[in-house]
Amino acid sequence: MPSAAALLAWYDRNRRRLPWRAEPGAAADPYRVWLAEIMLQQTTVAAVIPYYERFLTLFPNLAALAAAEEGAVLAAWAGLGYYARARNLHACARAVAAAGGFPRDAAGLRALPGIGAYTAAAVAAIAFGQPVVPVDGNVARVVARLAAIEAPLPAAQGAIVAAAEAFGTAPEARARPGDFAQALFDLGATICTPTAPACALCPLRAGCAASRRGIAADLPRKAPKPERPLRHGVHFWLVDRQGQVLLRRRPPRGLLGGMTELPGTPWRAQPWNDAEWRAHAPMPAPWRAAGEVRHGFTHFELRLALFAADVPDIAADGFLRPRAELAAEALPSVMRKCVAVIGG
Ligand code: ADE
Repeated sequence: MPSAAALLAWYDRNRRRLPWRAEPGAAADPYRVWLAEIMLQQTTVAAVIPYYERFLTLFPNLAALAAAEEGAVLAAWAGLGYYARARNLHACARAVAAAGGFPRDAAGLRALPGIGAYTAAAVAAIAFGQPVVPVDGNVARVVARLAAIEAPLPAAQGAIVAAAEAFGTAPEARARPGDFAQALFDLGATICTPTAPACALCPLRAGCAASRRGIAADLPRKAPKPERPLRHGVHFWLVDRQGQVLLRRRPPRGLLGGMTELPGTPWRAQPWNDAEWRAHAPMPAPWRAAGEVRHGFTHFELRLALFAADVPDIAADGFLRPRAELAAEALPSVMRKCVAVIGG
């Protein structure tokens, strides 16, 4: 068994300073911890920090977030992706504000909107000192190596979680569950990295089965991913004589639900021919080709053709916004790419 004491001693010397982290010995703010954990799902620390800081200036505490309009929350989230998370974040803030505070244990947290097993464990350990071990991608990698779990992910997930829990039962880990979790995050981010782990610098080397066998860099193994299917769409950039752009709101549920977009066709497997996309244009106009955008979603790859036109007056479903004010709209990353391609 690796040494939890050695890991914590390493953390005390090498912990990263992160905006959501309490200073050593200070109590963590549950709102900040929860917000950071939601934002960090499937994204890197470096990508999250600017969003996190801006989000906190807009919504400094749970009451402020609970009182906000959903549109304002989505706009602050725009660019982080996975917008269902922003809607769940808002729903969760309202539920927690109504209940008078966060539940303190993982099971209670797990019942809230947008909180899965990982996030419940992270918040319970970091904000409330509960003896649970959150297993995200970093922790899974560290633990798969410590225990030399050779089965490929995702099938190995259960064995990895069990090994993480066993490591977490060490008395030193039980005494400092939040630091233990964050030590695993930091070790995974800085030493036990995906392709070239720095085993020579690792405080857990003596107890690491993969390092002993020289296979640390090969773990965790991953089952091959199915290829993502390709989808095609066409979107329209229509500008009136005052320089206003036509936008519309996506339906509230589903992919990018409630976000703003340029009007367009549905996204489908076959490319759209001229007559087909014209039938989806918001109004007849002298359309000119205005570029192409590619964007990767979790489950498919998207290719968008863009067409632009200027007309004096726009008579179409949707709403108009001055070109210069698009940055304030809840435009998802794929639509920001479209605006960048068209607007230069
Ligand atoms: N990754 C996920 N949660 C984290 C945290 N609290 N600190 C650093 N990296 C993380």
